[in-house]
Amino acid sequence: MSIPSSPAFAALHSLSNLPRSPLGMTPTPLSLLARVTALCGGPQIWIKRDDCTGLATGGNKTRKLEFLLGQARAMGCDTLISQGALQSNHARQVAAAGAVAGMKVHLVLSDAVPDRSANYAKVGNIQLCRLLGAQVQCIVGDANADEVCAALAQQLRRDGSRPYVIPMGGSNGMGALGYAAAFAELAQQMQQLNAPLDAVVLASGSGGTQAGLMLGGWLQGWQGRIHGVSVGPTKEVLSARVNYALVDACELLGLPADAAASVELITEMGFKGPHYGVPDAATFKALELAAREEGILLDPVYSAKGFAGLLQACATGGALHGLSNVVFLHTGGVAAMSAYPEAGEVL
Ligand SMILES: Cc1ncc(COP(=O)(O)O)c(C=O)c1O
Repeated sequence: MSIPSSPAFAALHSLSNLPRSPLGMTPTPLSLLARVTALCGGPQIWIKRDDCTGLATGGNKTRKLEFLLGQARAMGCDTLISQGALQSNHARQVAAAGAVAGMKVHLVLSDAVPDRSANYAKVGNIQLCRLLGAQVQCIVGDANADEVCAALAQQLRRDGSRPYVIPMGGSNGMGALGYAAAFAELAQQMQQLNAPLDAVVLASGSGGTQAGLMLGGWLQGWQGRIHGVSVGPTKEVLSARVNYALVDACELLGLPADAAASVELITEMGFKGPHYGVPDAATFKALELAAREEGILLDPVYSAKGFAGLLQACATGGALHGLSNVVFLHTGGVAAMSAYPEAGEVL
């Protein structure tokens, strides 16, 4: 880590002054995965437990929502609207954030995952969204969820509410700032452990978490790699999503749009499986390995795909094998497990 440049210093100041609604239990734990480290025979592999943020089973959306909810409250909004798939962890966290803030929550959930049983629309995250008091509207997979949310917002405004619309995954600049701040937390923990951070590996979908970490690293003058493992989107789509959130976040901090353009955008496409929300053999293998070697529960939609990417990257011949310290960001997702009963059966 080097001393931040003066634009970065000013941006860090802006970041600390933005309205933020505390939702999570942070700093989240960081620990060594000793057995997985030995299995891969490369860098020391650490796990950053953002599955333990505490908000209705936790996950990466908590940190994004601290900034998004902060802005919603500063704008005087009384209702949250957001979208996701039927088993969206993001939607569950929005529902919980709304409950904490005493706001109404409307969720537009799309049936975007093929070949699932009828139970898929009843258990796991969607059940928890309803339990948390959100109004849930299900739409077909190819419907335009942005348009449905915009129409809903218009209707609610006509009815006298003040809605705040959160995009898919909370992945605009404001949401990404949650992970710009998280990077500083992680860097400090690694420094205290005397383990210089070389790379972070994570499951990447709507791209905001990856964008935030990239910006956070740039703000700290860090030179390492943020290794995003796609959970479904193509390289083009994921790169565009990360870039959008990165540019938007830079602008919110008063930085030029291309301030962090020097940070390499790394997207791994080898572990996304046949479709978003559909695991494959590598997903299940990673799920089993984390559970049986380390007692860590991952999920079949996001974190196990990310972990599969981590295992390959850290093994002999992998892109991160020669490094010293690699962190896997556990982004949560286990609340969806009951919608994937095959996770216990195929092993
Ligand atoms: C458990 C989990 N991990 C990873 C991600 C991916 O994060 P992002 O959408 O910021 O790329 C998500 C997004 O919903 C998630 O729910």
